[in-house]
Amino acid sequence: MTARPRTAIIAVLLLLATALVAPPAAAQAPAVARFPANFLWGVATSGFQSEGSPPDSNWARYARRGTGGIKDPYGTSVDFRHRYPGDVELARGLGVNVFRTSIEWARVEPRRGVRDARELAYYDDLVRRVRAAGMRPMLTLDHWVYPGWVADQGAWDNPRTSDDWLRNARFLVERYKGQGVLWVTFNEASQYLYRELTYRPMNLGQFATMREALRRTHRSAYDMIHRVDPGAMVTSNVAYGSVLNGLFDAALFNQITDKIDFIGVDYYYGANLENPTAVHSLTGEFWRIDPEPEGLYYVLKNYQRRLPRLPLYIVENGMPTDDGKPRADGYTRADHLRDHLYWVQRAMAEGVKVMGYNHWSLTDNYEWGGYRARFGLYTVDVRTDPSLRRRPTEGVAAYRSVIANRGVERGYVPKRRPGWCSIEDPIATCFGTTPTPPAAYRKAP
Ligand code: BGC
Repeated sequence: MTARPRTAIIAVLLLLATALVAPPAAAQAPAVARFPANFLWGVATSGFQSEGSPPDSNWARYARRGTGGIKDPYGTSVDFRHRYPGDVELARGLGVNVFRTSIEWARVEPRRGVRDARELAYYDDLVRRVRAAGMRPMLTLDHWVYPGWVADQGAWDNPRTSDDWLRNARFLVERYKGQGVLWVTFNEASQYLYRELTYRPMNLGQFATMREALRRTHRSAYDMIHRVDPGAMVTSNVAYGSVLNGLFDAALFNQITDKIDFIGVDYYYGANLENPTAVHSLTGEFWRIDPEPEGLYYVLKNYQRRLPRLPLYIVENGMPTDDGKPRADGYTRADHLRDHLYWVQRAMAEGVKVMGYNHWSLTDNYEWGGYRARFGLYTVDVRTDPSLRRRPTEGVAAYRSVIANRGVERGYVPKRRPGWCSIEDPIATCFGTTPTPPAAYRKAP
């Protein structure tokens, strides 16, 4: 080998080695600029999961049938239907300015064409209280639940369902228009499809029909909402799916990127070569997954790169515990909140347009089959405490203080050290463009 190619090879090797050991300046940046004053801070929940006293619906039936992944009877859940004034006050106490829930189609139209005035009055009062408490409502039109009569007509197999859905949606948008509502059509279409596939259950033909129906219905709903509630912002939030994210995006998101006003991302679980614990999702033991806060940073950057014209909103983020027990590694809901928000701040400092963040959830609630996985800032012992008392977790003070200070404290070092070779961005993380050297971190839990 002549001297010149050898020098070139050495230079390339040196470059690679430098990349592996020395992260670029941006990656070493400490906690960054404050969140802007108009940032949207929220809490998120859904009607079926928290309200209790469920009317007939697909999910009331699945829970009653008790098959598949159903572990607990639905019972009362946290009785949000009757305790919402207190819960809205709890949200106000956090300092949030967005309150997300869903308006349950099964409640407001329990029989085809018949509206339930009492249930509508409940949602009217909820929206009124949310606004009076200084919050914007974020209203989901479909968080996976449809009325029993829709189930009886074949759910999404039947083309009528899309028309019925749009009629109900239009009625609700007319009712709550002009109030600064952030509208979500379908919550996590990929998970909606998956749950219907496994709980209803559906065959692959029905799956394809439902997928197409969600696509068409969302697209019409988007136009309808803009006609009826001009200036409103609309999305269908995506579930971030780690290794499966390509599939998750293919469920609906890829077909509607021209019909959303912001990218709504739900981020819970990431994975890297040091942290493959996301496999516990296969058995439903989500509390055994070790959070990967820096994954949110990569996910935000990736979606922003893909759709630079749109702002992002973290519509859901949270941490399940095992029935409220502390995690074995000592990582708390407060750590989880601060670490994730640190990475959001960093993404924003690097130009990602994030308009809001919702914590899932205000209180524990029915986690699609059971009460064991607990996500609440306020915990509630649904199975053992008939008084359904809301007890604050460490997350309450942490969230309140991050909101009040518009960010984590200056110089904050995330408690969880970034792992090596993250699925969220293999190029950056396997070849050393991030993370900050481990020595900079507190002892990783
Ligand atoms: C859903 C919520 C659920 C949460 C935690 C999201 O997929 O939108 O309904 O409770 O994740 O598992």
